[in-house]
Parts: sequence; C-alpha cells; structure tokens
Amino acid sequence: MNTIFLIGIAIFIVSILLWWLIVTTEGVYLGRNVVIWLYDFYAQRYDTIKNTQLDYELAFTAQPIIDRLPIADPLVLDVASGTGRLPEVLLRHDEFAGQIIAVDLSRAMLIVAAQKLKSAMEQGHVYLLNSPAEKIPLPDNSVDVVTCLEALEFMMNDRVVLSELVRVLRPNGLLVITNRQGRDRYLMLGKVRSHAQFRQLLEKEFDLKIEHVNSSWSDIYALFIARKNGISDPIGTKEALWHILRCPKCEANALQPKSGYAIPTWECKHCGHLIQQAFDGIIDLGL
Ligand SMILES: C[S@@+](CC[C@H](N)C(=O)[O-])C[C@H]1O[C@@H](n2cnc3c(N)ncnc32)[C@H](O)[C@@H]1O
Repeated sequence: MNTIFLIGIAIFIVSILLWWLIVTTEGVYLGRNVVIWLYDFYAQRYDTIKNTQLDYELAFTAQPIIDRLPIADPLVLDVASGTGRLPEVLLRHDEFAGQIIAVDLSRAMLIVAAQKLKSAMEQGHVYLLNSPAEKIPLPDNSVDVVTCLEALEFMMNDRVVLSELVRVLRPNGLLVITNRQGRDRYLMLGKVRSHAQFRQLLEKEFDLKIEHVNSSWSDIYALFIARKNGISDPIGTKEALWHILRCPKCEANALQPKSGYAIPTWECKHCGHLIQQAFDGIIDLGL
C-alpha cells in the first residue's frame, strides 16, 4: 500500500515537473533545440491559440511604431517573428510602406508565416529568414526598427540577443520589445525581469531611451518602445535583400546572386558559402 502511494506521489511530481518544463516554460530550461522543436510542433495551432485581433494590433502594436517613424518606408527587422504577426499587421497599416526582414529559428512557424504573407513576399515587402536571434546576418546600424515580440524570455541568454538587436539598429532607430508580466512570470525563474529591472537593463546597459511603455498591451506582456542613442539618417527600403544581408558564415558583406540553380541562390564572394531561397519562399542560411 505504502509503495503504491509513494509511486503515485512520484508520478504526480514528475508530471508536474514535465508540465512546467514543457508547457509552462516552453522548454526554455531544456535548451534552444527543445524550444524550437516545441514551436515546430505547435506551429499549425499557434495562431488559433493566440487569437490576436487585427484592429487591436493595428491600434496598439503598429500605430505606436508608425507614430515615431520619420519616414513611411522604413527597413524593419522582426526577430523571432513566428507566424508573421508583426509583418502582417504592419503591412496592413495604411501608413506603412516599408520592408520587413523577419527571422525565426522555427521553420514550421515560418512556413505558416509564408502562407499568410505570400503576395507580400513576392512583391519584396517581406523576407523570411530561418536564422537564430543570437546571430543576425545583418551589418551594424543597418535597420530603422527592430522588433522582438513575446520571445525574449525564451532565449537562452537574453543579453546576447539584446546586443544583437541593438547592434543592427541604426542610431536614433526604434527597438520595440515585450517584457513578460502577470503571475506566470514567477514560474520562469531567472528568465523574466520586473519592468523596472528591464527598463534599467535597456537604459543603462544598452544605452537606449525608453519612449513608450504599455503595460496593458496584453495580460502577460508589456510593450516597450525605446530609441537608440545617437544620430543617423533613416535607412529606408532597399532594392533587394542580398545588398544588405551579411554572410552568416564569414560575416562579410559579399553576397552575389548565383545562377545555375533551380531556386534563387546567393554566394558569398569571400568564403563561397551558399544561401538559398526554398520553394516555399523561406531563405535558409545554410548553417
Ligand atoms: C511566442 S513566439 C512569438 C512569435 C511572434 N513574435 C508573435 O508575437 O506572435 C516565440 C518565437 O520565438 C522563436 N524563437 C525562440 N528562440 C529563438 C531563437 N534563439 N532564435 C530565433 N527564434 C527563436 C520561436 O521559434 C517562436 O516562433
């Protein structure tokens, strides 16, 4: 009897632990591969679970960004873009005429994004890159806006990711990022900061100036908009991605279109690395 009771308790504890590791914290304590594997697994259901409302997103996500832009056609980088929520809402906004580079490491999430953004991709308004947030294949100071929604707490090292986001952002450009809130955040030990700590991190360590905080943005996230210190001219929309894309292998700005392949292919003139755009439109960095 005692043994059966103890086995029951053990199964209960292990189940709670597994639930916490896999469902509540989405694999973040098990490593990046597990996080991405879980997003690959949930990708087809992600939008149904999230159920974001376009009118709300236009008013409270796109509008505060657009209000702060000096030009209508900025170059935007959306990191951990998932199923393309941010590109979708920006492209639906009447006052937005820019270009978006969306990166995510979950290919299955990007496949859903590609289905929704097919025509915008064909017109060169949005590019989807299968790439990690920890190593963004863009030069320093090369985009007008960097966004990273509902993702920072799932990164193995948020400081490494924040340095990348700030590195590629031009001086005077905007960083749009969420910080987790609500009771759930106490379950993500060591992964979530209070808003005051997050503000301090952005201002003191990354030299950003916070312009907007919306703590009613969602039940579990506050939206922060911060500006990178310094002055620079707006970047604006570029003709083609490979003009700005950096080789993910050797980091040289030396990509050139390469003929002779069935799918669009670029070669790094410096190290010979190949990057290809698959039939579904997603650009695989080949690493
Ligand atoms: C909660 S979803 C947010 C997606 C989207 N930004 C949104 O607001 O709907 C988190 C995303 O982060 C991505 N992700 C997690 N770790 C990543 C990493 N190290 N590099 C790139 N993407 C990552 C996941 O694949 C997933 O698509």
